[in-house]
Amino acid sequence: MTAVPPSALGHSYGSSTEQCTVPVARRVDCHPQPGATQENCEARGCTWCATDIPNAPSCFFSEDSGYGYSLVTLDKRSTVSLFGNDISPIVMDVEFQTKDRLRFKVSILGEDAIIRPTPHQPTIDANYDVEFSPDSSRFQVKRKSTGTVPLVDMFFSNQYLQITTAVPSTSVYGFGEQEHVSFKHNMDFVTYGMFSRDQAPTPLANLYGVHPFYMCVEDDSNAHGVLLLNSNAQDVSLSPNPSLTFRTIGGILDFYVFLGPTPENVIQQYTEAIGRPHMPAYWSLGFHLSRWGYPSLDVVKETVERMHQYDIPFDVQHFDIDYMDRRLDFTYDKTNYAGLPEYIKELKTEGMHSVIILDPFISKDEEPGTYRPYDLGQEMGVWINNSDGVTPAIGKSLPPGYSVFPDYTNPRTVEWWTQLCLEFKDVLDYDGIWIDMNEPSNDLTGQLPGCAANDINNPPYIPSITGRSLSQKTLCPDSKTYLGEHYNTHSLFGCVVQQATGKRAFVLSRSTFVGSGKHAAHWLGDNNSKWKDMHYSIIGMLEFNLFGIPFVGADICGFNSNTTYELCLRWTQLGSFYPFSRNHNAEGNAAQDPAVFGAQFAKIARSALRIRYSLLPYLYTLFFESHVHGNTVVRSLMHEFTSDQQTHGIDTAFLWGPAFMVAPVLQEASTII
Ligand code: NOJ
Repeated sequence: MTAVPPSALGHSYGSSTEQCTVPVARRVDCHPQPGATQENCEARGCTWCATDIPNAPSCFFSEDSGYGYSLVTLDKRSTVSLFGNDISPIVMDVEFQTKDRLRFKVSILGEDAIIRPTPHQPTIDANYDVEFSPDSSRFQVKRKSTGTVPLVDMFFSNQYLQITTAVPSTSVYGFGEQEHVSFKHNMDFVTYGMFSRDQAPTPLANLYGVHPFYMCVEDDSNAHGVLLLNSNAQDVSLSPNPSLTFRTIGGILDFYVFLGPTPENVIQQYTEAIGRPHMPAYWSLGFHLSRWGYPSLDVVKETVERMHQYDIPFDVQHFDIDYMDRRLDFTYDKTNYAGLPEYIKELKTEGMHSVIILDPFISKDEEPGTYRPYDLGQEMGVWINNSDGVTPAIGKSLPPGYSVFPDYTNPRTVEWWTQLCLEFKDVLDYDGIWIDMNEPSNDLTGQLPGCAANDINNPPYIPSITGRSLSQKTLCPDSKTYLGEHYNTHSLFGCVVQQATGKRAFVLSRSTFVGSGKHAAHWLGDNNSKWKDMHYSIIGMLEFNLFGIPFVGADICGFNSNTTYELCLRWTQLGSFYPFSRNHNAEGNAAQDPAVFGAQFAKIARSALRIRYSLLPYLYTLFFESHVHGNTVVRSLMHEFTSDQQTHGIDTAFLWGPAFMVAPVLQEASTII
């Protein structure tokens, strides 16, 4: 284990006073929720020592708290309790899954628990060992050739599970979905929440999807990855020791360790476990054009026409909610979008493709008998229910009136959805589906009439998520889905819709979970037309390649607010090398398609996109490698030049596979255009 030098933050981590013997860098927060005071800290049996280092905990664990172990069971050995209801003993199950993959699982010792020797005697010749220390306080996953990944204190209660792991270096990458300002994480007491949320990218906010996965490059350039397979609301704190503290409010601690040793090996092993990325259709690697706010089909046609006039490479036209009749799924606006079915056919005969958006809320307030998606769903009983498990949860979103939410964890819902998608394909012959708002998003805080006061809706600890609320912008946690309480299944919603939607077809999803890459592409959400957002898009793209979702891109030229000529031009050059290359923006903003800015812009866009198109056989091959072996498609320079420490922090340039580097202009006024 490598300690960070005391000067790393420009502060001294040492302390002169008696109770401050734990150096600040080593502290693990014992009062992770806001409002720590010496009194409430000491009342829960933790140590208090005030510090002015930003975000460093003043209330922390003494170094011998947590669980010790005896054989397979772990007994709580200290009196510290964070949120009550602590469980002891708990059971740890260690499984040597492949020669490079270890799983360890900490769960409740139920009467029917299978007790296996700890650690399992490996039946395979693994590249790692698991060792328990003689003083019962730690266990280590040890790379046979070199490094170690030690694990320390654990807390296990009904609605609060915590584990701290030391990491061997500060080259830590991953965790999502957030907007990160650097690819290599800042480890100076930063906490990331994970809980899917309809949230425009903002640093430190929890965004649309959940990926509790990180990769660490050790000092000797070996890399390993770790997944905490858990769908509950959770957060992770990165500390300069360096260490990571995971906190989740349900499920079990189910960890997978991937031993690499190269970064590419880590991702290959990770996607072997969670599902390899799907093989996209070749056409979907072309350039996509979209916007929210084409007021009519005529405006779509004009836009497509000017793209063709300038001969800008272009394969896919998207249709956002404007095409719908009053924003009702499975309808189209027969006035403003009259002739849409014919136009989609026409595009098809020209060799182009169309993608339509669908939202996961269904209006319940149309005249009975006039809106089949609701009537059929009601008949089939496919909605997420209130806590009574019988009455549908009612929220409010884009369509008029109130809406219900399909429960995609229910096989009947998959039947209902498939049926409607097929019927609608007979109306609009679309080639792909764009699934938006599937966090699931709701304009209300919980459904009508609000969330009951109970421990599920208001758990004792709410992870570090925006609003510190589990029901804000979504449903109440005690709602019932087929798979269980929404409390446990909320962050799976996006992923289960993707599974239900298709295989080889193009499926674009805003919300994602571990394994989503098997079914869907992803875009990075509602970014801003700002230079810094263009830079952050590279980081997001690299991260989603770590998450096994390589078919990813950001809204080229920015979604929110008006773009500028120069920003949009630079972004078009960068976006020509996103695996998923789409220009999209929000209603109310000026048009920003590459043909709208005139001949000079169009010429530059054409030439950037032609480079993309000339390399499509290479890109397609990279996706094949990804599909078959799990490689990243876009990767950071660190993946290929791991032993060169300088590459560890580079996130302004990236590679397509091992062989093609893209170093875009990310600064305004870099040259006179
Ligand atoms: C939110 C999505 O993130 C955005 O891309 C889309 O344009 C709007 N919803 C409207 O559908």
